[in-house]
Amino acid sequence: MSEFIETKGLKKIYHVGGQKVEALQGIDLEIARGDFVVFMGHSGSGKTTLVSTIGGLTRPTEGTVLIEGNDIWKLNDKQLSHFRNRKIGFMFQSFSLLPTLNVLNNVVMPAIFSANSGKKDSDTLKSKAISLLTDLDMKRKVNSFPSELSGGEQRRVAIARALINDPEIILADEPTGDLDIRTEREVIDIFCHINNAYQKTLIIVSHSLTWLEKAKTIIVMKDGLIFKDLADPVEAIMDGVCKP
Ligand SMILES: Nc1ncnc2c1ncn2[C@@H]1O[C@H](COP(=O)(O)OP(=O)(O)OP(=O)(O)O)[C@@H](O)[C@H]1O
Ligand SMILES: [Mg+2]
Repeated sequence: MSEFIETKGLKKIYHVGGQKVEALQGIDLEIARGDFVVFMGHSGSGKTTLVSTIGGLTRPTEGTVLIEGNDIWKLNDKQLSHFRNRKIGFMFQSFSLLPTLNVLNNVVMPAIFSANSGKKDSDTLKSKAISLLTDLDMKRKVNSFPSELSGGEQRRVAIARALINDPEIILADEPTGDLDIRTEREVIDIFCHINNAYQKTLIIVSHSLTWLEKAKTIIVMKDGLIFKDLADPVEAIMDGVCKP
């Protein structure tokens, strides 16, 4: 049986001003359902490129991304966008919430844009959003606007937003960037909760070593490749072999 998520020979080459940038140089990777994976590695090692390729946002130059055995890059645009809406909750570097919408409407927004939204009753969506926000200890802020929230609270809203379509996979790129250590720990604990209680497969990119305390799998990247033979990835990161 195939793994939940599998990449084979994944390459991404960018052409910039006559120069070739090999962002991914042939990645073979398997991620099991329910895993909590954190990608680490120095800046420019290809982490964002890899996860956005897995998430159906960046088309690879070569290779395949299989999700439950289906090659997502063989889907047409409409099927691919349906796949993204149904299967994946995104929380990317530019996770920013819409400043003119309150917390509740920010969370509901992806569901409104999702392919099935026409059938969904907006009251049902709102009560689902409120239940997510309650679980993330944000119920009292449903009517607040993003500018009225702390950095940690904004992340909670972005996490609720990523969960609104009930995706199986959450992709988060630097979800704890710019947070103090205490708030970072709180946000990481929320991701643990989502992994345990909601049974979501988490794919996180981060430079922060704090994730190492909670992640199930650490994958270290360097120069568009994955270190497969690191006896102890944590030690390698600490030693600076692949210092962020
Ligand atoms: N849209 C693009 N066009 C051209 N080159 C790109 C593009 N996106 C990424 N790259 C290049 O591909 C390589 C990998 O970039 P990527 O953003 O995946 O790295 P990263 O590991 O996420 O880095 P960081 O930790 O700084 O976010 C880098 O050399 C980068 O300059
Ligand atoms: Mg990045």
